[in-house]
Amino acid sequence: MEEKEIYKGLAGVPIDYTAISKVNAETNSLLYRGYPVQELAASKTFEEVAYLLWNGELPSESELTAFNERTRPLRKLDPRVAAAVDALPLDAHPMDVVRTAVSVIGSLDKDAWTLTENLSKAEALFAQIPAVVARDHRRRKGLEPVEPSSHLNYAEDFLWQTFGEEPEAAVADAFRVSLILYAEHSFNASTFTGRVIASTLSDIYSAVTGAIGALKGPLHGGANEAVLHIFNEIGFGPGAKERVKVWLDNALATKRKIMGFGHRVYKSGDSRVPTMRDAMVKMIEHYGRADVLELYEALEEDFVSRKGIYPNLDYPAGPTYHLMGFETEEFTPIFVAARVTGWTAHIIEQVENNALIRPLSVYNGVPERHVL
Ligand code: ACO
Repeated sequence: MEEKEIYKGLAGVPIDYTAISKVNAETNSLLYRGYPVQELAASKTFEEVAYLLWNGELPSESELTAFNERTRPLRKLDPRVAAAVDALPLDAHPMDVVRTAVSVIGSLDKDAWTLTENLSKAEALFAQIPAVVARDHRRRKGLEPVEPSSHLNYAEDFLWQTFGEEPEAAVADAFRVSLILYAEHSFNASTFTGRVIASTLSDIYSAVTGAIGALKGPLHGGANEAVLHIFNEIGFGPGAKERVKVWLDNALATKRKIMGFGHRVYKSGDSRVPTMRDAMVKMIEHYGRADVLELYEALEEDFVSRKGIYPNLDYPAGPTYHLMGFETEEFTPIFVAARVTGWTAHIIEQVENNALIRPLSVYNGVPERHVL
């Protein structure tokens, strides 16, 4: 076998520059275009953060007004996209539905290949994904779709389209915080997938479709839904500590991965968790579900003390979406709606300064042999 150093999983390998975000594992910090994500989550709308990721600066008041005037009318789905969503089986995973919908949206764009128009395509995807997720949510329950609103902001409208009523301010705010925290995280697996596809000069829809496929996996975005499966296995209700201990003994004995814990970059805690945990606690208080906090803390305490592996963003996000009334399989599509901002910012950055991404491999198969 060839003797060459390999970097399995590309762990620790920088492969390009990016000006979009900076993850600093040493200080547990995350900056979007230089701003700490906690400050953005405390004070900005999701629209402002999307604008920041794409344009490098926060919008002025007039720029934000123009952005809203441009994107709110795009929230409504083309009837052919709506029909494609409706044609999918009711038991299809919602991630498959959103992946298919993005692909259909791309097929309807005659200028899909115009790479210079990628920013307006990104804005359109940002505007339309909530309608896809909400339509899918409602059709599974036998409910008619709800028309997007033009007076609600992004987070409020997403909840409006899903549940058919204007959300309470506290709920919309916790949802907004989650979207901002999920929006961007440097060269994670799905963003990297999007950049690889963009690097071939394929179109933005193909790159986003591929990124959605990468996000679906439980080692990445799919972990937020997996956290809820774990909570269901352990069981809600008072007295979580004892149930957690028994469940964890068994899970560790069978070498199960505990979803919602661990991170490739952060090894002493995910910078986004404290902010998302605060939002989750607000929802726990709002819905009067102290048992969820008891379970959350019991599993965290027990697992961290045994393994020294800390929660990632998916750990508080999953229970928060559950409390809001989303179905478990819809958690990762919400992540898509948020992360499409980061993905498309990266796709644009990749195309602007492109090099085809094509790593090497080290062959370890059978030695050369012949059929002749
Ligand atoms: N549960 C149990 N053991 C774990 C976990 C976990 N969640 N995370 C890491 N470990 C253990 C591994 O088993 C391994 O142990 P070993 O050395 O004895 O074999 C060691 O810690 C190193 O783990 P790796 O998986 O090799 O580390 P890597 O950096 O590749 O993992 C990952 C990062 C994939 C996120 C991992 O921690 C994991 O699988 N976590 C669960 C899935 C999850 O929550 N993903 C969400 C990521 S964040 C996001 O997408 C928002």
